[in-house]
Amino acid sequence: MTLTAKIKNILDPLKIPSKIDLKDALLQIDLTLEDLANLPIPFEGKPYNRKLLFKNDEVELLVMNWSQLECAPHDHGNSHGWIQVISGTSQNSIYEVKGKGLPKELFYQYHQKGQLFYAPKKAIHKMKASNNTDMVTLHLYSPPVTGMIVYDLEKCAACVVSDDCGAWWPDEQYQKVKEIKLNTKSNQ
Ligand SMILES: [Fe+2]
Repeated sequence: MTLTAKIKNILDPLKIPSKIDLKDALLQIDLTLEDLANLPIPFEGKPYNRKLLFKNDEVELLVMNWSQLECAPHDHGNSHGWIQVISGTSQNSIYEVKGKGLPKELFYQYHQKGQLFYAPKKAIHKMKASNNTDMVTLHLYSPPVTGMIVYDLEKCAACVVSDDCGAWWPDEQYQKVKEIKLNTKSNQ
């Protein structure tokens, strides 16, 4: 069976999958770096480039190939999902936000090759490759991510980005679907 057929067999039956359903699906897919040929190289100045492996109305599976840059703090809209480290080591920072305040970094954690971590709905995080490792990560979200909010904490700014934009401040005006004014006093 090809990888594409295997992924489809596992993901197609999912309907409103729970946290555990998604984790089980990712473990069943059991993807390794050897399964992934011709990963897209990140563009200059961008933290990662991505390749869509599967998408239907319920779920999407993406692989991300990282540079040494950190992505911007962001959420995944109304989606939840799991991230699996396929290669390298990830440093994942978790934020807390109150209302429309400025997100505050709470802690970070490392995940090694093969490990998975959960991204709840509306949770804000950022990621980077740790210790100059060549990092590749696999992301399974439900439903497919739309309306992601990206933060620029230095500018105290946030915006909903278009679906073709990654976890970085948009380059193009059309990618800024909605700018959000942050209340910088609410977290003080
Ligand atoms: Fe993310």
